[in-house]
Amino acid sequence: MSTDDTYPTKYAEYEDMFDPMQTDRQARRQRRTRRNPTPRKEPDEAVAELADTTGLEAGFHPTYQAARHEEQWLLSSLSGFYDQQLITDVVAQVKGGKEASVYRCLAHPLTGVEFLAAKVYRPRMYRTMRNDYVYREGREILASDGKEVKKNDSRTMRAIGKKTAFGVQVSQTSWLMHEYATMQMLYQAGADVPRPVEAAENAVLMSYHGDEHMAAPTLNGVRLPLREATALWGQVLYNIDLMLSLGKIHGDLSAYNILYWEGKITLIDFPQVTDCYNNPNAYDILRRDIWRVGEYFQSQGVRCVPDAVLEELWKRHVRVSPRDLLADLSVLEAERDEEEDSD
Ligand SMILES: Nc1ncnc2c1ncn2[C@@H]1O[C@H](COP(=O)(O)OP(=O)(O)OP(=O)(O)O)[C@@H](O)[C@H]1O
Ligand SMILES: [Mg+2]
Repeated sequence: MSTDDTYPTKYAEYEDMFDPMQTDRQARRQRRTRRNPTPRKEPDEAVAELADTTGLEAGFHPTYQAARHEEQWLLSSLSGFYDQQLITDVVAQVKGGKEASVYRCLAHPLTGVEFLAAKVYRPRMYRTMRNDYVYREGREILASDGKEVKKNDSRTMRAIGKKTAFGVQVSQTSWLMHEYATMQMLYQAGADVPRPVEAAENAVLMSYHGDEHMAAPTLNGVRLPLREATALWGQVLYNIDLMLSLGKIHGDLSAYNILYWEGKITLIDFPQVTDCYNNPNAYDILRRDIWRVGEYFQSQGVRCVPDAVLEELWKRHVRVSPRDLLADLSVLEAERDEEEDSD
């Protein structure tokens, strides 16, 4: 898991598991001539088998009663966190979505907290992200160790392009690692985001916001007194500004992706985070983010002007990109050198 070299081997196993006939021509020929071929496993069966040999054997029996298919996926996705002594149980589902579900887990005593939240991506969630290229521009593909997949790794790149089972898994893991890496960066910079604890191929573990009765609601379901709403609008802008100072745009910011608990906000849901210098759609993505949150705060009586905020923040952080600045500086240097030569 920890070096680039182990990456193809690790995913080769995945590929075999989901589609044993994928790329290995030799194996394909052998399979054709085999007298008693082992029937090909369906993905569900493969996941079930994986769950049987990981979580269950290791004693991981979540209290949360999930549907059979969800339970197997849950076990295979979270048993690593159990083995690492980060969680001891899954007690409730906070929210089930099309792409990911979030669970409240009992934290291991060694972590020093009572609960942790696990966001578990559904198998093949990638397929529902039809416009993902809008966000992907300017982003590298990340493997589950958080390292960049090399562009000359033609097997992986081809699989991603063709959306084979293996390629889809790599894309999904890359989305997840972007989410995790962004949370780490923002948390360290002091932004209002969950504390990232650990990442695995299909899941991210982070601080849980809420208590044993309920998870923190998202802002869209919260009515705020004007004074508090004004202060929180300022706090949201502080976070957008901080992200821009790190070269990032949330990409899916709205009142639906901001938690509210005990007067504090927490920005969540980062897989679509976008680079503000290298993505040609950056301005439009930032505009949509600011407008969406702005509309919520307007509904709470705050007199905010999203376009004015957008112009100010864009001017402050992005208008001169580091690349343009470097180019300008090198022109200046060349001119100075010319002048010195002519003296
Ligand atoms: N750290 C957390 N603590 C408590 N609740 C959380 C946490 N993270 C997420 N949630 C809850 O889980 C929901 C889904 O999380 P998130 O927005 O990250 O996933 P999603 O893929 O966008 O799902 P959805 O499409 O349902 O919004 C959130 O709306 C929130 O209610
Ligand atoms: Mg969300």
